[in-house]
Amino acid sequence: MSKQVWKAYDYDRQLSFVSAYGRGVAELLAPQPGERILDLGCGTGDLAYEISDSGAHVTGMDDSAEMMERAKSKYPELTFMTGDGQNFETETPYDAVFSNAALHWMKDAAGVVRSVYGALKPGGRFVAEFGGKGNIDGIYHALKTVFADHYGIDADSRNPWYFPSLGQYATLLESQGFRVHIAHHFDRPTKLPEGKDGVKYWLLHFGDRFFTEFSADEKDEAIARISEAAQATLWHEDAFYGDYRRLRVFAEKV
Ligand code: BEZ
Repeated sequence: MSKQVWKAYDYDRQLSFVSAYGRGVAELLAPQPGERILDLGCGTGDLAYEISDSGAHVTGMDDSAEMMERAKSKYPELTFMTGDGQNFETETPYDAVFSNAALHWMKDAAGVVRSVYGALKPGGRFVAEFGGKGNIDGIYHALKTVFADHYGIDADSRNPWYFPSLGQYATLLESQGFRVHIAHHFDRPTKLPEGKDGVKYWLLHFGDRFFTEFSADEKDEAIARISEAAQATLWHEDAFYGDYRRLRVFAEKV
């Protein structure tokens, strides 16, 4: 399967809501001065920077070299490294691992949980929010229908996302040895920027893997069809609202 391509500059310009929503997760983390914190899937580094305001030493990690380059140029005082969240090791353990809107891109969830556990000190905390079961069902249903009806493609075979239920994820954490203090699965309808083009831009940013062999014109056409199909359920008054459903967890390495 081809890799998701991240356009770091466009990401900052059109998707600042991703970090804005992550502020609540950073509050739950409650970083303390002097703590070592790893931000897993840190994107262009905005939340890593905000967390570092607490006096914590934050390292950002992301598997996109382009995102890491932009993060380093925005926040040269922080440490950023390219790495795969599904399989990493650290020399010095962290007090906490934080992650916002990234873990749903990592299908090897057991690999993530094992790596995070290994990266933490005893008593260290893992605080994360990402898409849970049912996340973006409306967008995905529109895409899946258009792919089946117009292109004879089963979209499931290209689906790059992992949206577990609360029970599945809590069980995974517990089987690794974490104590799960908080696990919360909740709806968070999310206003997509760019008005009538909201679904279009969302797919242009996040949907690369579905359109691998499409020409530019075919991709435009398919995206227009998906946008139209999504309108009945996701358009409200003045904008498209992504039917985001989040899973937020706070777990401790015991
Ligand atoms: C999300 O934040 O829920 C999400 C973003 C991009 C693709 C899939 C899900």
